[in-house]
Amino acid sequence: MNESWHEVVPVHTASRDYDVVVGTHLLDEVGHRMRSTLDADAAFVVSDTNVAPLYLNRVESSLREAGFSVASTAVKAGESHKNLATFGSILEDMATASLTRDSVVVALGGGVVGDMAGFAAASYMRGIRVVQVPTTLLSMVDSSVGGKTAIDLSRGKNLVGAFLQPSLVIADVGCLSTLAPYVFVDGIGEVVKHGVLADEELFDELAAHPLTQDGDPIQLAHVIARNVAIKRDVVGADEKEHGVRQTLNLGHTIGHAFEAASGYALGHGHCVAAGLCHVVRASERLGWSDPGTSNRIERCVAAQGLPTTCDIPLDDVIAQASHDKKRHGASVNIVVPIRIGNVVMRRVSLPELANLIRKGAGSPRP
Ligand SMILES: NC(=O)c1ccc[n+]([C@@H]2O[C@H](COP(=O)([O-])OP(=O)(O)OC[C@H]3O[C@@H](n4cnc5c(N)ncnc54)[C@H](O)[C@@H]3O)[C@@H](O)[C@H]2O)c1
Ligand SMILES: [Zn+2]
Repeated sequence: MNESWHEVVPVHTASRDYDVVVGTHLLDEVGHRMRSTLDADAAFVVSDTNVAPLYLNRVESSLREAGFSVASTAVKAGESHKNLATFGSILEDMATASLTRDSVVVALGGGVVGDMAGFAAASYMRGIRVVQVPTTLLSMVDSSVGGKTAIDLSRGKNLVGAFLQPSLVIADVGCLSTLAPYVFVDGIGEVVKHGVLADEELFDELAAHPLTQDGDPIQLAHVIARNVAIKRDVVGADEKEHGVRQTLNLGHTIGHAFEAASGYALGHGHCVAAGLCHVVRASERLGWSDPGTSNRIERCVAAQGLPTTCDIPLDDVIAQASHDKKRHGASVNIVVPIRIGNVVMRRVSLPELANLIRKGAGSPRP
């Protein structure tokens, strides 16, 4: 299939309206799509050492063809480089490239690049525009949309950042073919989460046809576009996370605890999937969720090749979850699925959280 195909998800937020374009062969169209939406002359591409050798040339050529002057940088790949030192080097490179307030940053990579390049754009000259060109499944369905940007400090992840909505998001599903299989599957964790959160039809489709890296690109693009629309609707209602945006944390209170207790050896999406299964098992046993909900979620998660449990000792999980950065004093807001497509937030005390984590322990299911 060589023809280019795409669909557009329009996003409206209090600070900016923008389009998310999802489809095939879009990397070669980045320049002209930016030209028709943005008034800018200079583009600065931020990528990483894995993505740049694969895709930077195509994006740079497309930008030059559309009349942009182009400079770029490729930072070291991986979460361990999402730090102040790399952030500083990006800003220095932006200044060396003589970017002005009218220039635009293009983030070409996964969530790590998107978060860092977005934060650099939010900071340089007190804020210039950013275009997100996500290249992982996670960044297509989650991090490139919503406007959160951040870097890590040695004391914790995403502790410094800013809100900056992108001016345009271009997701070329062709990029997914070069991902390491574990990284592709990791992104499905957020896809299942979105289905449970807001879209039973998407959930059932995923359960019946698990996502695969070599599947039909148009179908994949369609699923990604639906995920973007779900995140768009939640973020649109609550851009700065005062209320309903917190429901996007479904599976994350326990998932983050798995991630941290594993020393970040386990992928975020794998931990979110296991965290989602854990919370719904507990919630069903406590009588909060409709009977059968946990079984359906566990089957769907397992069908994607994601874990339904995590073998980290419960005491360690409880200790980590009690230190969640989203804690409010002595209580935590936890998102609980009542049934597929319907979740509620419950505020639980730390002893109640510990009880919930103990209740949710389970054995892996087929
Ligand atoms: N801002 C938000 O709202 C938000 C939401 C969720 C996650 N995040 C952040 O996203 C980050 C995780 O993102 P991620 O999972 O995309 O990780 P990542 O950016 O580290 O990418 C994973 C790996 O895949 C490589 N890669 C990327 N695209 C590739 C491609 N097309 N082909 C081959 N290799 C490729 C990368 O170099 C990296 O080694 C975390 O830092 C997390 O905090 C942010
Ligand atoms: Zn997440």
